[in-house]
Amino acid sequence: MTTPFINRGNGNSGFKRLPIIAGNWKMNKTVDESLLLVDEMIDDLDAIEGVEIVLCPPFVALYSVLDLLEDTGVGLGAQNMYHQNSGAYTGEISPLMLREICDYVILGHSERRTYFGETNELVNLKVKAALKHDIRPIMAVGENLAQRQAEETSAFVTAQVREGLAGIDIADIPTIVLAYEPIWAIGTGLAATGAMAQEVCALIRQTVAELYTQEVAEQVRIQYGGSVTAKNIEEFMSQPDIDGGLVGGASLNADDFIQIVVKTLEVSSKK
Ligand code: PGA
Repeated sequence: MTTPFINRGNGNSGFKRLPIIAGNWKMNKTVDESLLLVDEMIDDLDAIEGVEIVLCPPFVALYSVLDLLEDTGVGLGAQNMYHQNSGAYTGEISPLMLREICDYVILGHSERRTYFGETNELVNLKVKAALKHDIRPIMAVGENLAQRQAEETSAFVTAQVREGLAGIDIADIPTIVLAYEPIWAIGTGLAATGAMAQEVCALIRQTVAELYTQEVAEQVRIQYGGSVTAKNIEEFMSQPDIDGGLVGGASLNADDFIQIVVKTLEVSSKK
């Protein structure tokens, strides 16, 4: 696996967090369509250095997409995973199956939590299983509209981070990516503002610092997700605690996704 840090080269204060853009295709694209989409963007994506790029197609397309990503710098991620290695879990996919193909796995996405009843406890088991098998988790957290309106965002997101990371060794923390995705912003076209997203991402980093150390919290990469587009990515990437994006709808269009990565690089090189 590549290291998630770029060395500043100044020899002392350490590193700069390597920005990471992940495309969460959700339940979209057949295998053929997946290959077409990757084909449309892979050359441009591969030419970009300084941003880690991860494509997360549906399970059935992972293997074919992997073929196209071979010898490129673009990584592959799954959208979910069960925490057991094998057994009578009809319909589930295990870390042993994914570790052969994937660098990353998205865990605890709000759609999994809402439609499939995933709890913080289950997400925690999955994060631990991924780490055990050298798959990097992208653990998603975020509040719904009612929680935001009731000013419960901080308490809710903090609990998701604390419970999702419970019992995880400090040595594993820098390999985890946390994604802040306010549910009201996902797929709605109503993205958070940069300031709103920064406020919660700073809180997430603070929570990691309280659980572990400030030093390790500074190494964790935090993405914003929720109606990210080529038009608004700069606003998010300009925030000090936002290190990338988890992109849904806009990752299904080659030009949009390439633009998002290009703009991420532009902003992050000035950070
Ligand atoms: P969206 O989805 O970009 O379509 O809002 C983001 C996500 O759910 O990861």
